[in-house]
Amino acid sequence: MTGAPLATSTLERRYRAGSSHEIVAVRDVSLEISSGSFVALVGASGSGKSTLLALLGALDRPTSGTVRFGDQELSGCSDVELARLRRRMGFVFQSESLIPRLSVWENVSYPLVAQGVGGPRRRQLAESLLDRLGLASRFGALPEELSGGEQQRVAVARALVGSPEVLLADEPTSHLDVESAERTYELFREVHSQGTTVLVATHDPALVGSATRVVSLEAGRVVDDRTDA
Ligand SMILES: Nc1ncnc2c1ncn2[C@@H]1O[C@H](COP(=O)(O)OP(=O)(O)OP(=O)(O)O)[C@@H](O)[C@H]1O
Ligand SMILES: [Mg+2]
Repeated sequence: MTGAPLATSTLERRYRAGSSHEIVAVRDVSLEISSGSFVALVGASGSGKSTLLALLGALDRPTSGTVRFGDQELSGCSDVELARLRRRMGFVFQSESLIPRLSVWENVSYPLVAQGVGGPRRRQLAESLLDRLGLASRFGALPEELSGGEQQRVAVARALVGSPEVLLADEPTSHLDVESAERTYELFREVHSQGTTVLVATHDPALVGSATRVVSLEAGRVVDDRTDA
């Protein structure tokens, strides 16, 4: 499996805050994220990490500038094409995103429904990931019965279940204890070694340590970009 590269050019995302005030959440970001890289996106709270991830994942549209996934420029894509591109990515959102009425394993395997994977296989894939993340006893629970960290791990499993080309994860270990976080790093390193392009926004030094490239944001701009030799 090879991950399609993501690239942005002079990307900008402004939010209107009140009638005259504007916030520039992402400004002049031109980044090339090559296939198979493991990139940590770091920066203070409010520096634009989540906004940039949402733009890269075609979940939001830029005010100006472009995002390219493989050879497709997102601004030229129809909603149907965007939906198809999104299915090649896995997302871990910063805020709660599980479907309340579905059990843990059903939430995890949900992306596979669109891929036409049958029920027993879906369950098997979901269970194996949940097991890896220390959630073997929670397969049948509902999201409301889970702790914040358990929900976060379910979201990680859901993002990975479809073997995405690109994993976009927004602070995926922020609610985890050391052991659960370790399991998550291990899984991320494994999918990375299998060719998945991994992009994580994080404040977690250990997760940053797993990355091969660290991009730092400050007030929406890239202020540092380091790749391990
Ligand atoms: N929907 C919105 N409307 C208005 N302003 C927004 C919106 N979303 C984000 N912002 C602003 O854009 C800036 C960047 O926010 P963003 O969520 O990308 O930061 P972040 O780096 O992910 O922060 P954190 O580490 O706290 O998650 C902030 O100033 C934020 O207040
Ligand atoms: Mg954020």
